[in-house]
Amino acid sequence: MTDQTKDVSFVKSVKEFWHALLLVVPITLGWIWFLFRNVNLPKEKKAELFWDMNAKNMDTFAENEGLKKFEADRNEKLEKYLPGSDRVLDYGCGTGTLSLRLAGRVKEIHGIDFAAGMIKAAQKKAAESGVDNARFMQATIFDERLEKRSYDAVLAWGILHLVDDRNLVMKRINELLKPGGLLVSATECMGEKKTPITSLLSFLMKIGIFPISLKYFTVAELEESITGAGFQIVKKEIMGDNPVSCFIAAKKMN
Ligand SMILES: C[S@@+](CC[C@H](N)C(=O)[O-])C[C@H]1O[C@@H](n2cnc3c(N)ncnc32)[C@H](O)[C@@H]1O
Repeated sequence: MTDQTKDVSFVKSVKEFWHALLLVVPITLGWIWFLFRNVNLPKEKKAELFWDMNAKNMDTFAENEGLKKFEADRNEKLEKYLPGSDRVLDYGCGTGTLSLRLAGRVKEIHGIDFAAGMIKAAQKKAAESGVDNARFMQATIFDERLEKRSYDAVLAWGILHLVDDRNLVMKRINELLKPGGLLVSATECMGEKKTPITSLLSFLMKIGIFPISLKYFTVAELEESITGAGFQIVKKEIMGDNPVSCFIAAKKMN
């Protein structure tokens, strides 16, 4: 590596770390304040309430340069892999940004998220933009109101590294898809390599002030969960490397 390449890569790392700090610091400060106010809250409820608390800032966070740079690539992939899909489930839909973006291309899109604030924001955005084929519901993937074998595609964008039992979730996604249906996903694979961001998050989780239990696994482990649940991977691509973010489109085999 030449001195010039080293300089460029150092500047890139510093910039990426700075963008990550701009995201992580306000989130963490907000959370510390929240912890302080709700010290007796049961542990299981914390992650859900954390997301709920951040719902109002979610769209502002999405404008962060560190995330924004992936937007064009993300949109291109969504448009390529979800063209004309009749019924789509957007799992972990947040404030509905992706659902609303895709609504014009599909017959129906159904967003679910366990945080009430996210769903409220998504419903408000849908009403304001006059979209009438996107429905949003507060739910987990195991909610019995979701019909088995009823979706042509399940979008799981930025969620699989947040769930407790990835293998069970993958099986459930498979169950909700019609035969031949498609899983379209993007997942942070933080077990792939140590970066300043993964170390910072791990530290914040260890000392108990970061409420989300992020799961650290590799791309190979993610692939294993997907194929193990009865999918065939049709496309895999590394989208970002700090942390490693992996796009996977996979087809339900039967
Ligand atoms: C990183 S955000 C991604 C939002 C959206 N998919 C996007 O790309 O704009 C993760 C979302 O998943 C939701 N979430 C996290 N764990 C969940 C779970 N177990 N069940 C349902 N939603 C969950 C959070 O509330 C949050 O809105």
